[in-house]
Amino acid sequence: MKLLVTGGAGFIGSNFINYWLNKYKEDYIINIDRLTYAANPEYVKQKYFEKRYKFIKGDINDKELMEKSIKDSDVIINFAAESHVDNSIKSAEPFIISNYYGVYNILELIRKYDKRFHQISTDEVFGSLPLHSNELFDENTKYNPKNPYSATKAGADMLIRSYINTYNIKATISNCSNNFGPNQHKEKLIPKTILNALNNEKIPVYGNGLQIRDWIYVEDHCSGIDDVIHKGNIGNSYLFSARNEIKNIDIIKRILKTLNKDESLISYVNDRPGHDVRYGINPDKAMKELNWKPKYNFDDALKITINHYKKNMNLNKDL
Ligand SMILES: NC(=O)c1ccc[n+]([C@@H]2O[C@H](COP(=O)([O-])OP(=O)(O)OC[C@H]3O[C@@H](n4cnc5c(N)ncnc54)[C@H](O)[C@@H]3O)[C@@H](O)[C@H]2O)c1
Repeated sequence: MKLLVTGGAGFIGSNFINYWLNKYKEDYIINIDRLTYAANPEYVKQKYFEKRYKFIKGDINDKELMEKSIKDSDVIINFAAESHVDNSIKSAEPFIISNYYGVYNILELIRKYDKRFHQISTDEVFGSLPLHSNELFDENTKYNPKNPYSATKAGADMLIRSYINTYNIKATISNCSNNFGPNQHKEKLIPKTILNALNNEKIPVYGNGLQIRDWIYVEDHCSGIDDVIHKGNIGNSYLFSARNEIKNIDIIKRILKTLNKDESLISYVNDRPGHDVRYGINPDKAMKELNWKPKYNFDDALKITINHYKKNMNLNKDL
């Protein structure tokens, strides 16, 4: 297969390209990424893939580049996005341009060339769950985004659903819970905690730190996307989670303990406006229909992640 991956120099996209080219030795990937502050083309292990991989610095809103690339590909997988909620609160415009208009641009070309499309979306489109409940998001949960980032992702999903319904495009969507692993930007909770702790710098914690996130190791998300591409039903959405709901403060304490660092590094700061308190996902549909299941146990994956940032502190040096 010839894949077009957009946003493949960022966290999840780069892990996906490494995963896919390692697994499917005959496949070819073109990666179009605009190289925002969150990206690093070195995250893809290019030298191992030789003639099976090509990187193009470009924007998903560039109609000419996208037309040429989509026309030549079998499957298009879109990871490209502005991804940090805090930045979207400061300024929503770049999020609307990349996360919404960018998807519109891709959709028009998918429709024109009748290509298979998969959109990487997020559980944040569903909003927030009560802290003390067993309620979970599933594929039938109504969208209820609570910040500009999740609103642009929700808008894109809605647009895709409308194109599936109106033009019969061959598209699928996956909404995944919080990912962690190698190549994530330092602005996000787990890499920030690891890198600050290694440098003996304060670790900022929003509000009381009791917010719950549902964590999945990035490779398990990649295998889920792989299953949707190969076995997913066209027009469907799939939710992925490894059922690891953990309080932010507990993750920070676990990392500090693993690194033998003192909890006095923790610094409570003002909460994010409109902060979602809890995400929890029911991945039953993906497990039953796709026979997908996560491979990694949270603690083992956290150790792999901590070791990665210890060894590659320089990859994050300018971030
Ligand atoms: N990180 C998570 O926990 C998580 C969870 C669920 C879903 N997602 C979704 O997964 C996708 C990837 O997230 P990530 O965490 O890897 O983010 P990231 O910020 O690390 O990577 C995003 C990449 O997209 C690129 N990009 C941004 N705008 C672009 C544009 N207009 N044209 C081309 N490239 C552009 C960036 O340069 C960057 O390399 C996003 O769509 C995000 O919504 C992330």
